[in-house]
Amino acid sequence: MPEHRIYQESVKAVTEKIEGLKPEILMILGSGLSSLADMAKDTVSIPYEEIPGFKASTAPGHFGKLVIGTLGNKCVMIMQGRMHYYEGYGVEEITYPVRVARILGAEKLIVTNAAGGVNGDFEVGDIMLICDHIKLFGDSPLRGKNIDTFGVRFPDMTYAYSKRLRDIARGCAEDIGVKLREGVYFYMTGPQYETPAEINAIRILGADAVGMSTVPEVICAAHAGMEVLGFSLISNMASGILDKPLTCEEVMAAGEAAREVFGALILKCLERM
Ligand code: HPA
Repeated sequence: MPEHRIYQESVKAVTEKIEGLKPEILMILGSGLSSLADMAKDTVSIPYEEIPGFKASTAPGHFGKLVIGTLGNKCVMIMQGRMHYYEGYGVEEITYPVRVARILGAEKLIVTNAAGGVNGDFEVGDIMLICDHIKLFGDSPLRGKNIDTFGVRFPDMTYAYSKRLRDIARGCAEDIGVKLREGVYFYMTGPQYETPAEINAIRILGADAVGMSTVPEVICAAHAGMEVLGFSLISNMASGILDKPLTCEEVMAAGEAAREVFGALILKCLERM
C-alpha cells in the first residue's frame, strides 16, 4: 500500500517501537471494553501522545494507548480507547489511526462499542453484530481531496460490514454458546444522550442500536479496502424505551459485566478470520 506523505511520521514512530511486528488486524475497543486488550500476549504499548497525529482520548474508560501483540494467533494492533467527535475532534482526526494501521499492513478492522438498545427485543448485556449503519450527520472522514492511494472517490458501502466476517462471527457465537443479536447501528454525535423522540424517529428509520462512535472509522476502513467486523454491546436501553434516565455509569458497568463473554467471542473470531 503506497503511503501518503502526512501519515509517514506516525507510521515511522510506530514501526520503530514495534520492532518487526506486522499487525494484520486493527481492533478498536469501545467504552468499558478496554480491558479486552489484557488478553493479548507479548505486547508493546504506545501511549497516543507518543505517536504524531494521534489525539488524546478523553472519554471515560478510554485509555489512549496502542497495544500491539498476539491474540487468537494473529498479530493485532489494539486501540485501547478511541477519539470521538464530541471530544472536539474532526472526523479526519478520529479516523487517522485507521489509515496508519492500513499503511502498516492491517487488512481487517474489528470495531467494538457500547450502544443503546433501540430494538425493543434487545436486553442490556446483549452483543449485537453490526450488519449496517445509518449516518445522517453531514460530515464524512472522506470529505475533501480524495487520497487515491487509500481508495476511490466514491467508495461502495454495500459491503462495508464484511459478509464473510459476519458469517464467521455467527459461527463463533454458536460454537461458544453466546446469543448474538444482529442489527443496524445508528450514529449520533452526542455527547448528550438522545431524546425519547429522537429514539422513536431512528427506530422508525430502521435502527436497532444507537451510539456515538464507530461509523467514521468504518467508513475510512471500507474506503481503504479493509474487511470490517463490528460488535455493539447493548449497555443500556435507549432513551424512552424504559422510563428512566441514562447514565455513563451504567454504560461502563455493562462493559465490565460483559468482559468475559465479549472477550471469548472476539478471541474465537480472531482465530478464524
Ligand atoms: N446513546 C448513545 N450512545 C450510547 C448509548 C446511548 O443510549 N449507550 C452507550 N452509548
